[in-house]
Amino acid sequence: MRVLLAGASGTLGRALVPQLLAAGHEVVGITRSKPSADRLRARGAEAIVADVLDRDALLAAVRGQRADAVMNQLTALSTPPLRYESMRMTNRLREEGTANLLEAASLVGARRALTQSIVFGYGYRRHHSGPVDETAPFGVPEQLPVDPIHAALASTERQVFSTPGIEGIALRYGLFYGLDGREMQRMLRRRMLPVSTWEGVVPLVHHEDAASATVAALERGVPGHAYNVAAAPASWRHHLETAARALGAPAPLVLPPWLLRIALPYPAELMTRMDLRVSTERAARELGWTPRYPTVEEGWAAAAGR
Ligand SMILES: NC(=O)c1ccc[n+]([C@@H]2O[C@H](COP(=O)([O-])OP(=O)(O)OC[C@H]3O[C@@H](n4cnc5c(N)ncnc54)[C@H](OP(=O)(O)O)[C@@H]3O)[C@@H](O)[C@H]2O)c1
Repeated sequence: MRVLLAGASGTLGRALVPQLLAAGHEVVGITRSKPSADRLRARGAEAIVADVLDRDALLAAVRGQRADAVMNQLTALSTPPLRYESMRMTNRLREEGTANLLEAASLVGARRALTQSIVFGYGYRRHHSGPVDETAPFGVPEQLPVDPIHAALASTERQVFSTPGIEGIALRYGLFYGLDGREMQRMLRRRMLPVSTWEGVVPLVHHEDAASATVAALERGVPGHAYNVAAAPASWRHHLETAARALGAPAPLVLPPWLLRIALPYPAELMTRMDLRVSTERAARELGWTPRYPTVEEGWAAAAGR
């Protein structure tokens, strides 16, 4: 398939582009910068320079293109989101960005649209009832400061599922890790990533595994379906202590939850409130996908050896 990929130059995009090309697909990456476009071309993709939030510029840039599928892998997280306001631009990319990309899809003749979502949309709380599957309520307001994030996730999913003539698929990824080892090492060395004593777990997925699930969803995903894409869950503390060991960095500071909430309001919401396991049975059954790195130990060992 020929894929118009927004976010091709991002961390997930960098894992995804080579996997799409290796599977025989053609990639037209969208980026805002010419140097990123040149890097995409050097990797064997085509590239378009456009800001996805500028509807008219985007539509002008894709005019004359043809594609079978459009993919939204956009975020604005190049600095870690420490406060709720840091998610504002990512929320816009999920709401307006998806709308603009779906208009672009119609212009280039694409019939399939995939969008990036995240399992945190199941809610920032303890999920007592065992692994959560894709039929559970998603993106529902919780009367918490994270509600705009939920609204944006619900919006991008709803848009791809409800656009006439489009086969929409949502990828509800776990927390990515793996390809950002150097950045992680830098932050751990500076003691910038404290953890709490909360033992709740969150779903995680190595970037390479997230990319392989995405290729499988492009090829075999059932229209109208969301897919949980995650490996074994881990507590933040276990995840970051494992990363520190693998990367030769000092163990993270352990702070009480109340102090973490003051220091890092948004991540603290995840690190002191959430206990979530997800079922990936649907991805295994319909996509034939299982992770290459089932645990953070295996994933960080691979990342450290890179
Ligand atoms: N599930 C998760 O845990 C999750 C999800 C997403 C990201 N993250 C993490 O967040 C960190 C940063 O992500 P990242 O490195 O991918 O960087 P990023 O700064 O979030 O950029 C992501 C992609 O979005 C594109 N983009 C952003 N705004 C755009 C716009 N207005 N128009 C067109 N393209 C736009 C960027 O392209 P250009 O800059 O080239 O224009 C880039 O390709 C990574 O550690 C990643 O793992 C985690």
